Amino acid sequence: MSIGLDLGTSGVKALAMDEHQNILASAGAALTVSRPHDGWSEQEPADWIAATEQAIGALLRQIDPASVMSIGLSGQMHGATLLDAGDRVLRPCLLWNDTRSHAEAAKLDADPAFRAITGNIVFPGFTAPKVEWVRRNEPEIFAQTAKILLPKDYLRLWLTGEHVSDMSDAAGTGWLSVADRDWSERLLAETGLTRAHMPRLVEGSDVSGHLRPELAARWGLSEGVVIAGGGGDNAASAVGVGVVKPGTAFLSLGTSGVLFAATERFHPDAAAAVHSFCHALPDRWHQMGVILAATDALNWFAQVLGLSPEVATRDLGDLQAPSRTLFLPYLGGERTPHNDAQVRASFLHLGHDSDRDAMVCAVLEGVGYAIRDCRDALASTGTRFDRLIGVGGGTRSDYWVKLIATILDQPIELPVAGDFGGAFGAARLGMMAATGQGAELAVPPRTERVIEPDRMLTGAFAEGHARYRTAYQTLKLLH
Ligand code: XUL
Repeated sequence: MSIGLDLGTSGVKALAMDEHQNILASAGAALTVSRPHDGWSEQEPADWIAATEQAIGALLRQIDPASVMSIGLSGQMHGATLLDAGDRVLRPCLLWNDTRSHAEAAKLDADPAFRAITGNIVFPGFTAPKVEWVRRNEPEIFAQTAKILLPKDYLRLWLTGEHVSDMSDAAGTGWLSVADRDWSERLLAETGLTRAHMPRLVEGSDVSGHLRPELAARWGLSEGVVIAGGGGDNAASAVGVGVVKPGTAFLSLGTSGVLFAATERFHPDAAAAVHSFCHALPDRWHQMGVILAATDALNWFAQVLGLSPEVATRDLGDLQAPSRTLFLPYLGGERTPHNDAQVRASFLHLGHDSDRDAMVCAVLEGVGYAIRDCRDALASTGTRFDRLIGVGGGTRSDYWVKLIATILDQPIELPVAGDFGGAFGAARLGMMAATGQGAELAVPPRTERVIEPDRMLTGAFAEGHARYRTAYQTLKLLH
C-alpha cells in the first residue's frame, strides 16, 4: 500500500492506494492563509505538521497501517521555509501567491543569467526573490538562515529527518539549472547563498529517505517505510492524471489555475511567461501557464455575497452568451501571461441589469479568459495538445467547465469519480520508489464525461476574450 500526502494551500490531503492503484481511503484537514498586508500570503509550518498529523491519523484509522510500504509527497510550490542551523523555523513561510517581492524579482530577472540558466522569468512568487526580500528587509532572519525548504520538503524533514527536494518542485525556486537538473551555484551566489543552503536533490520517483522510527512506532507503521521524492503539486497531479508525455494536457481549477502539458524535452521560452520546469519523472520536462486566482476568485466573490461558492453558482442554468460585464481575476496580481504583481482585479462595464448572477457569470468568464491566455502562451512556444483533462474543485461546476471548453474551443474530459490530484500522483510516486516501477504506472484515469464546447457561442466568447485583453491594457495603467 502507498500513501500520498498533498500539502495544499487550503488543506492537507492524505490518500491510501493498494498495489492495483485502487483508492482505499482518504482524509483531509483544513489550513488557512494569513494576509497581513496587501500582496502578502503566509502560513506557519507548524500548522502544516498539525494538519498532516490530523489527516494521517484519520487515514490510518480506515486502513491497516502495517501494510503501508511507501509515502509520496506533493505540495504547493515555491514557498520559502527558512530554517536555522538547528532546523528551527525562523519566520512564517512566504507562499507561492505572495507577491511582495516584485521589486526583488524584477531585479533578479534583469540579470540575464537567471532566464538563461532557469529558462523562466523570475516571478515574484518564486522562492529566490522572496528570500532576497528577507535578505533586504529582515537581515537578522537572513543571517540565521541555514537551510531553505519548499513546503512539502519541510514535511519530509519532519517525516525522515533529512533535507531533500525533488526536481519538479526545485525547478520553481529560481535557483535550479532546469536543463541540468542541478542547483546553479552561480545563481545561488547572486542571492548571497551557497549549495549548503539547499536540500539534496532526487527525482520524484526515487527514494528520498525513510520514515523516522518514532513516527513509525506512533502510527503503527512497519520500519523502513520509503518516502519518495514526490513532486510539486502540479507535476504530482500530472502523474496522477497520466500527463507524462506530449499530446495530453490537464487543466487544474484549484486555488490557482494551471494549464499543464508534458514536453519531449526542455524547451523554455521565458518571454511567453510560461513556466518550463522538470517533470516529477526522470528525463522529462513540462510547461505550464499559471494564474494566481481560479477558485480563489470565485471563493472571494461568493464570500463578498455572503454565500458558499456552490450556492452562488447553483442557479446559473445552461451556458449563457458572454456578459458585457468583464471581470479580471487579478486579486493578487498575475503570472501568465502578464507577470504583473501590482495589477488588481476589476469588474468593468456594470449596468443597472448587473444582478448577482450576472456578476457571478462574469467572475467565471474572467477565469476562463485567463486560462485562454495560458493556452495561447503555451501555443506561442509550439506546445500543443489534443486531449485536455479537467481536475480540481472548480470542475465540480458543469457550468464552469462548459464555459471554459467553449472559450478554449476544446473538449474537456472529466475523469470518473475519484481524486486524481496531487495526493493520488504522490501515492503513485511512492509506489514507484518502493517497487522500482516508473512512468508505466502513470496511466490516465477513465473518462466519465466529455464536456464539449458550445459551438454556437465560441465566436461570441472569442470576442469576449478580445475585450478582456483590451481591458487589461487599460487596467495596468492604474497601478
Ligand atoms: C505553480 C503555482 C501553484 C501552486 C499551488 O507555479 O504556483 O499552482 O503550486 O499550490
